[in-house]
Amino acid sequence: MRNIYSSRPYAAITAIGGYLPQERRTNFDLEQVCDTSDEWIIKRTGIKERRILEAGLATSDMAVMAIHDLCTRYNKDVADVDAIIVATSTPDVLMPATANIIAQKLNLNNVWAFDMNAACSGFLYALDMGASLVETERYKNVLIVGADNISAFVNIHDRSTNILFGDGAGVIWLEPSAEEGIIDAFMQSNGDGRDFLNIEGGGSLYPTSEKPFNQERSYLKQDGKVVFKQAVQSMSNACKSILERNQLGIEAVDWLIPHQANKRIIDAVGKDINIQKNKTLTNIEYRGNTIAATIPLCIWENIKQIQKGDLLMLTAFGAGFSWGASLLRWMI
Ligand code: UT7
Repeated sequence: MRNIYSSRPYAAITAIGGYLPQERRTNFDLEQVCDTSDEWIIKRTGIKERRILEAGLATSDMAVMAIHDLCTRYNKDVADVDAIIVATSTPDVLMPATANIIAQKLNLNNVWAFDMNAACSGFLYALDMGASLVETERYKNVLIVGADNISAFVNIHDRSTNILFGDGAGVIWLEPSAEEGIIDAFMQSNGDGRDFLNIEGGGSLYPTSEKPFNQERSYLKQDGKVVFKQAVQSMSNACKSILERNQLGIEAVDWLIPHQANKRIIDAVGKDINIQKNKTLTNIEYRGNTIAATIPLCIWENIKQIQKGDLLMLTAFGAGFSWGASLLRWMI
């Protein structure tokens, strides 16, 4: 849906990059630390392994590697970047923003940089925000990073979370375009999810300075059943709503790129919105849920299948709850 500034440029994705840590955490590794099995995990989630960032590194390190990858592949100069938005729930430190740390590592001195926490929907939220910056013509070259070092918050002995999550970073470069690029974004949230998906420790309510500090609070907690149901419903509704308000049928969509949380969620959304099975892109089998990085990483890893001019529908759901869908024309 074109906005009221229709004489203004579109924002289009002109480059993409990604980074995955070397270390693999397989289902067999998890069998050693909790009561689970490779068979159960594959059947209930579709995941075989995840990547884990080594100790001593953090979210900004993965983001910087992803940005270097983008610049190398697409011959971009990072010195041209005007703004960086980092979608993450796992910043390097509480303050300053991971975006500032990335700016320092890239030697960028006059960049508009900040973090956005919308959990697993973060990349879609940041993409919408970045596209708006480009459409106003105040910013020309905007990096949207989705990066999470979620393994730092996963209790390795907790089978309700350790089976799902992995680390990674993805990034896209946005620029003004006369042709269609980012077409529309339908983003929503509420506060219903607080008890069902959270990391409570280390914020201002439960600071680490509290004595005694309850270590359990520093881990990711999830009520999987509640989250599962909401995720399917919210992503399906967001996809239907964005198609409807752009007067498009599902057959117009070339590729659905859903948040990679659970293969059964992906399949249920695909079924609900009635998209052909071979039009849904995934990488969950070997990556797991990388929070804000799932969508850019999934595009990055399936890039050979996507052609210039293809219509992409992205959809995500996460803590908050927060969710949404985006429509864009692939212009690379
Ligand atoms: O990014 C957004 C955030 N997250 C999500 O979208 C995740 C949403 N939720 C899920 O992916 C799923 O709910 C889980 C994968 C977390 C759990 O799968 P489920 O099919 O909902 O399992 P369940 O909790 O209903 O448990 C079914 C059975 C239970 O045994 P009984 O009571 O039937 O005997 C559990 O005790 O499976 C058992 N179980 C396990 N067994 C082996 C639960 N977790 C495990 C496990 N390994 N890891």
